[in-house]
Amino acid sequence: MQNRIQVVFHRTERVRQPETLADRVRTTAPDNVAAAFADLEGLIGLQEAKKLMYEIHALLRMNKEREKHNLKLEKQVFHMVFKGNPGTGKTTVARIFGRIFKEMGILSKGHLIEVERADLVGEFIGHTAQKTRDLVKKALGGVLFIDEAYSLARGGEKDFGKEAIDCLTKALEDKGNEFVCILAGYPEEMDAFLELNPGMPSRFPIHLTFADYSVEELLKIADSMLATKEYRLSASAREKLRQHLIRMRQDVFEDNFSNARYVRNALEQAIRKQAVRLLEIQELTREDIMTLSAEDFVWPNA
Ligand SMILES: Nc1ncnc2c1ncn2[C@@H]1O[C@H](COP(=O)(O)OP(=O)(O)OP(=O)(O)O)[C@@H](O)[C@H]1O
Ligand SMILES: [Mg+2]
Repeated sequence: MQNRIQVVFHRTERVRQPETLADRVRTTAPDNVAAAFADLEGLIGLQEAKKLMYEIHALLRMNKEREKHNLKLEKQVFHMVFKGNPGTGKTTVARIFGRIFKEMGILSKGHLIEVERADLVGEFIGHTAQKTRDLVKKALGGVLFIDEAYSLARGGEKDFGKEAIDCLTKALEDKGNEFVCILAGYPEEMDAFLELNPGMPSRFPIHLTFADYSVEELLKIADSMLATKEYRLSASAREKLRQHLIRMRQDVFEDNFSNARYVRNALEQAIRKQAVRLLEIQELTREDIMTLSAEDFVWPNA
């Protein structure tokens, strides 16, 4: 009998807890940190990324408390590996992480420098080291985001990509506290790259996997993208888009369906189609102007 009462009490307590990550941060963090977190929370899905940042937030608070009590601090390395297919939100999340880190005081500026092989690798001896050093310098205080990092290792020992990796490793050693480095790319290639470069795994302790979005998530992403543009989908447009996404996810999966990026492009195209559809209509209602209808979604092979 007593047990039962305890269970009921426990449940009531759980219900009272704030629901979203942003809520939990809002009650425990200064406004500027909470505002940056709200951007992260606003993204559809991406639970792993949200959870990670919440843990870091909690850890920083704990370090402050430990400091007060003269206890050892938990040192953290924030360099990360983002694994995921195209359009799964890697760059978007990296940009928001930069802002959150800035508000938390981990980074001084929080900006994002996004680079790929061609930005780091030069054409003659010494050129690569110079290019890589310059970019690291630009990224100081912020996030250095290296897309398809494994392409640096592709050319083998003699390739200048190797020089970029060495130079980057050195920068992480010397200035690793002044910026956050994120390596991003396809999951399999990323794992192979880390295995081949023994110095890397220990320097990049945080790994986040960006899963492909489900069709329902893609539709929610469409809704959220349209809401910021003050557009919306009619019920039939939403259904047409849903059917199309189901087909695309099945057909194009091996060839890399580009997830949220695909949705963004589809919406931009529909917005242009809608404008043309309404061009000759004189009296337009607010509803007409805001609504994308099924006929605005046309695909070549559909
Ligand atoms: N969870 C999400 N909620 C809302 N919008 C999203 C979400 N994920 C991605 N987007 C949007 O989709 C687009 C593509 O995302 P992003 O560029 O971050 O993907 P990516 O993983 O970096 O892709 P790529 O590997 O091709 O560079 C952006 O316009 C972004 O704002
Ligand atoms: Mg990207």
